[in-house]
Amino acid sequence: MAAFQYQRASKYTDYDNIYEQCSGPGGLQLAEFMAEKMGLRSGSSVLDVGSNRGIQTCFLAKEFGVLAIGLDPWDDRQTGRPMVEHLRANAKIWGVENSVLGINLGVPDTHFASESFDFVYSTTALEMVRISQGIEGYMNCLKEIYRVLKPGGVFGLGEPMHLAVPVPDDLRPYISKDEYPWIECFRTLKETTELVEKAGFEISESEYAPDAREWWLSFAEHDPFCKEAPEKDPKTLEIDDGRWASFGYVIGVKSTAIG
Ligand SMILES: C[S@@+](CC[C@H](N)C(=O)[O-])C[C@H]1O[C@@H](n2cnc3c(N)ncnc32)[C@H](O)[C@@H]1O
Repeated sequence: MAAFQYQRASKYTDYDNIYEQCSGPGGLQLAEFMAEKMGLRSGSSVLDVGSNRGIQTCFLAKEFGVLAIGLDPWDDRQTGRPMVEHLRANAKIWGVENSVLGINLGVPDTHFASESFDFVYSTTALEMVRISQGIEGYMNCLKEIYRVLKPGGVFGLGEPMHLAVPVPDDLRPYISKDEYPWIECFRTLKETTELVEKAGFEISESEYAPDAREWWLSFAEHDPFCKEAPEKDPKTLEIDDGRWASFGYVIGVKSTAIG
């Protein structure tokens, strides 16, 4: 299979800045990969669930010509500022302040009218809800995303996932610690796909991303928290060596059929 060509993301090469302005593997490469899989169209509306500092949101607006709404309920642990304030600042830097909007809310309590968006994009966000609100909370988020999508709308979910293999014994201690232990956050592609389907979506594609390992290694090298604490995620990825941790995506469509 030919490797994915990052025609748009490859223009942006300041990876330290990119990883400072998002939080998770893949950065803008992930955003481009997902946008292509979702079939983003210029002029359409996109809700970015868990937009963090909004660099992916701005990238989608600039490179795909969409109207992008970034949703994020958290304050930045480095500065104490709401994430959406960073998003607004980034929108100016990217010159997309007229096509990017940041809202300090999260799923499932979005308050949007039903059938508002053409697309919903969410990367490396909902697996954290699984820790704070359990599987029921995770399902509520998926159902809310389904509700706010227009009929025929497309949902692109990108998440850290694990391969369908037993946890290697030597890896277990590394993925069982910290605030968001990977062993609790990560699920297999099959489990995640089934939940998206259960929320009402027709699955058009679901796979482990071919560049999952590269995205993780790039994150380990450039993310500011990884640089500060190489004994945490970077060490986990080193021990894992591609045996268990991966990154998967699910593309779901909201049917136009009535009933
Ligand atoms: C790890 S960051 C991922 C950011 C970015 N999408 C990426 O891929 O790099 C996850 C973000 O999800 C946000 N988040 C947490 N709970 C959320 C919720 N219930 N709804 C929307 N976003 C949420 C957090 O505030 C955080 O900024």
